[in-house]
Amino acid sequence: MNQLFDLKGRVALVTGGSKGLGKAMARGFAEAGADVFICSRHEDELRRAAAEISSGLPTRVEWSVTDMGDRAAVRQLAQTALERFGRVDILINNAGTNCPQPIDQIRDEDWDRLMELNLNSVMVLTRALTPQMKERRWGRIVHISSILGLGAKEARNAYCATKSALVGFAKASALDLGPFNITVNCIAPGPFLTDLPMSMLTDAQKKAFAERTALGRWGSPAELAGPALLLASEAGSFITGTVLLVDGGALCRAL
Ligand SMILES: NC(=O)c1ccc[n+]([C@@H]2O[C@H](COP(=O)([O-])OP(=O)(O)OC[C@H]3O[C@@H](n4cnc5c(N)ncnc54)[C@H](OP(=O)(O)O)[C@@H]3O)[C@@H](O)[C@H]2O)c1
Repeated sequence: MNQLFDLKGRVALVTGGSKGLGKAMARGFAEAGADVFICSRHEDELRRAAAEISSGLPTRVEWSVTDMGDRAAVRQLAQTALERFGRVDILINNAGTNCPQPIDQIRDEDWDRLMELNLNSVMVLTRALTPQMKERRWGRIVHISSILGLGAKEARNAYCATKSALVGFAKASALDLGPFNITVNCIAPGPFLTDLPMSMLTDAQKKAFAERTALGRWGSPAELAGPALLLASEAGSFITGTVLLVDGGALCRAL
């Protein structure tokens, strides 16, 4: 293992690590030597994911059933991670969802739910975990935004609002935390084959999403592990306050 990408001795907390992009990033960190803590709302999936993430590796993987839409639960998650591992060096704010509604049909409760999960929980967890990173003068924080944090799509009002807010939030926190050798960045994934887009797109839309990329296909979740490792490791030591697009070239296309 190139030392730049070596995570031995590091602890990574990946929210929404039970499946999709979160699980793939967690596995990538475990392969790089980190101990990993994951959370989601479903114990059965967490158990299975923890076994997959640690399979064949000496790494320690633990999990917590946590609803990231509940601020008290998010605060508790931070405390539990620190009690169990003694530290969190790498924080991946990945848990998120979508609820497409055109502007004149937005329901307050859906808007609030998306804000709480996709944006507010990221602030609450980051705020709770930065003091111990500051003490050690080392930390890596990555918010999982989206190409829909940079551009937009019809009916994705709340989703676009939260994902673009993460970009601004990362920039401001990068300035606060830079003096403590803590980097804060966003990853903006394009179309990746996970439950989230698959559950809400028609076959025609799935085909159109693939055709929009330069590579002509959907990404596989494992293809996010490398970019996340870059930002989570020593290799990314001078990258902060920015957005890493991992979209197969989807945003290259102007027309
Ligand atoms: N896939 C894509 O094409 C794509 C593109 C751009 C951005 N993203 C972003 O990438 C992130 C991961 O998405 P994904 O595609 O991997 O989705 P996914 O396969 O649906 O996984 C989402 C993860 O978040 C967890 N989660 C959802 N609601 C939660 C809650 N209230 N509390 C705790 N955990 C919760 C899920 O577990 P439970 O449901 O069991 O709680 C699961 O572990 C999201 O922020 C998404 O917006 C995805």
